[in-house]
Amino acid sequence: MTVPGMTHFIKTPIEDLYPNISDKGHQLCQQWIEKCNAGKSLFYEVAELVKAEVEQWTRATGEKPTYPQIRKQLFANDLIKKFEKTRTGSVNLVFSAARADIRVDLGYQKRIKDWENTTRERLHLNPKLEIPTYVSRPNFHWCPYVATNDWEEEFLGCVWDIGTSIMGQSSPNIRNYSVGTKRLISVVDYLSQLFPNFQPRRILDMGCSAGGSTITITMQFPQAQVHGIDVSSSMLSCGHALSVAHDLPIHYHQMDASKTTFADGSFDLIVSNIVFHELPNSIRRKVILECSRLLSSGGIMAHIEGGTYMAPTNIFQKLWRESDIRTNNEWYIGNASIEKLAMYIKEANLSTEAGLLQKITPSSEFFEGALLIGGRKR
Ligand SMILES: C[S@@+](CC[C@H](N)C(=O)[O-])C[C@H]1O[C@@H](n2cnc3c(N)ncnc32)[C@H](O)[C@@H]1O
Repeated sequence: MTVPGMTHFIKTPIEDLYPNISDKGHQLCQQWIEKCNAGKSLFYEVAELVKAEVEQWTRATGEKPTYPQIRKQLFANDLIKKFEKTRTGSVNLVFSAARADIRVDLGYQKRIKDWENTTRERLHLNPKLEIPTYVSRPNFHWCPYVATNDWEEEFLGCVWDIGTSIMGQSSPNIRNYSVGTKRLISVVDYLSQLFPNFQPRRILDMGCSAGGSTITITMQFPQAQVHGIDVSSSMLSCGHALSVAHDLPIHYHQMDASKTTFADGSFDLIVSNIVFHELPNSIRRKVILECSRLLSSGGIMAHIEGGTYMAPTNIFQKLWRESDIRTNNEWYIGNASIEKLAMYIKEANLSTEAGLLQKITPSSEFFEGALLIGGRKR
């Protein structure tokens, strides 16, 4: 059974990975499409409303409002309330659809388990690792990263992979359509323009989840040895299975990015994809310090983020960001700023001179492009 308008999201290059969507999954995806469509038209109405409210304020006071001055009035507006109601739980439907599908698709479960048990020596789990509470508690975007029961321990990574595939966010299974994959590739292109002779031999992907970013980066640097780390064993197990399915020799480790056990200077390139917005500032700082320790001389750190999340530039974008905290449990996006990141990078004695800390893909009136949080080891 196919989902109208969504078949391209679900059709994967590994044809046999996820061939059929269940009735339950179909129903949930359908609800998600409806919510997304409703949200899309509301989105433009909200943008117009914000414009009008800002103009009215400016006329009345002679000055443009700041976001803190006008936010309360915006969130009290019925249209924005409706918009937030539509957003709440929309992502939840996608992950529920993924869960429903995995539960009924025994063939999928078996394939994943078979792949997971192949070349097991590349999967390094550490059951003693202390899972930080900022990862285990928040239920970011309604899909926990850390399993809370046995079924999740086995399949939560797969829920993430399929859910993000449906949304076109990260999974390389839908390489041609994925927003996240394209963003990652555009950063690699940018780095190769800045440093044409840069050929990393060892690469680390921090916060790799189920390997979406790790597989993409491996495909970009096929000659390199690639390692992915995450605190979640369920994510890593699925990542390992998918790498086996793609025939890619990636090494996965259950480690905390702020205090890994790799030796000093172990990597020439360290990346992360959409991880920083989910970290508290104190951890962002520690991760950057850890990157500095792990990089070889001349090595590059490149953390990729959505600009609207980490560095919004106008009132509409700030409203969107705050709404994500309210509707999507993104607790840590509100206190991020380029200035703070620049301070941490300076403290870690990394250089950003070449253009390594900036937005690097086109922005629009509504959304900022990808933000590169980068630095080079001197
Ligand atoms: C948004 S997901 C990353 C998505 C992934 N990079 C991709 O492109 O598919 C964030 C991941 O960061 C992991 N994470 C958060 N804090 C971490 C830490 N201190 N060390 C390692 N992983 C961490 C979470 O467990 C989660 O899997």
